[in-house]
Amino acid sequence: MAEYEDIVVEGTAEHVLQITLDRPKARNALRTNLLRELAEALDAAAADEGVRAVVLTGGEKVFAAGADIGELAELDLKGVVEDTRPGYWQRIAQFPKPLIAAVNGYALGGGCELAMHADIIIAADNAQFGQPEINLGIIPGAGGTQRLIRTVGKSLAMKMVLAGEWIDARTALASGLVAEITPREATIERAHDLAGKIAAKSPMAVRQAKDVLLKAFDTDLTAGLRLERQAFTILAATEDRQEGLSAFMDKRKPEFKGR
Ligand code: CAA
Repeated sequence: MAEYEDIVVEGTAEHVLQITLDRPKARNALRTNLLRELAEALDAAAADEGVRAVVLTGGEKVFAAGADIGELAELDLKGVVEDTRPGYWQRIAQFPKPLIAAVNGYALGGGCELAMHADIIIAADNAQFGQPEINLGIIPGAGGTQRLIRTVGKSLAMKMVLAGEWIDARTALASGLVAEITPREATIERAHDLAGKIAAKSPMAVRQAKDVLLKAFDTDLTAGLRLERQAFTILAATEDRQEGLSAFMDKRKPEFKGR
């Protein structure tokens, strides 16, 4: 496994990879090197047949305090225009396998945006989500305006982005930003439970499902339903579909092989 400076990458026997953001002294601020390493680790996980789901965490104290403000301060207009970071964000967004974020403590600015790149967010009872960029005279720059409003709705997204107010785990759950709240010591374990459960399904069905679900953000209903039907049809050619249906009839557990 590759060595990284700002993240820790560990595999498990259940085909799950854990990526831990590892800049605790800077509250896991997402400096360019961290984003580059994260994009590289996810690219490698996408190419590795042994990985079927990824858990992304900042550890037990903090998820991420956003973009590295020191780095941002050094960028002039040319620097922002030529910034390499949007390219890393794009690679993270295009990760095709399930990505589950386990969020303890702060997920602010780019940290909240990173959590929203995950397919499922599990929040600790002490999680706090916010887009405080407005306090710095800027706005979210990694999808925060677009993904937040599509997820939590207009009024709450406007409050968070315009006033810079944070929300707690309960509000995040009520607004649909997160799927579940757990006690803070159980967040990572719960994310692994879910990742392991997903990893035991047919990888092709999981991939098609993720792809089509995310298309709902980009398409109208008619186009989305057409894409769903296409994905449903593609899966008819897989051995895993045969296995899943036969296993049900035979009253046994299916063994999906990813074929
Ligand atoms: N960038 C760089 N360094 C950061 C940082 C950030 N986003 N957040 C925290 N740090 C550093 C602090 O400067 C401090 O460093 P020193 O020890 O060297 O002084 C260290 O982390 C600890 O920070 P605090 O003492 O502030 O820790 P705290 O626990 O009291 O507070 C916090 C934590 C609430 C997260 C607070 O640090 C904070 O508000 N951070 C900034 C949050 C923010 O504004 N994020 C948005 C960034 S812009 C963005 O993300 C743009 C985008 O969309 C891509």
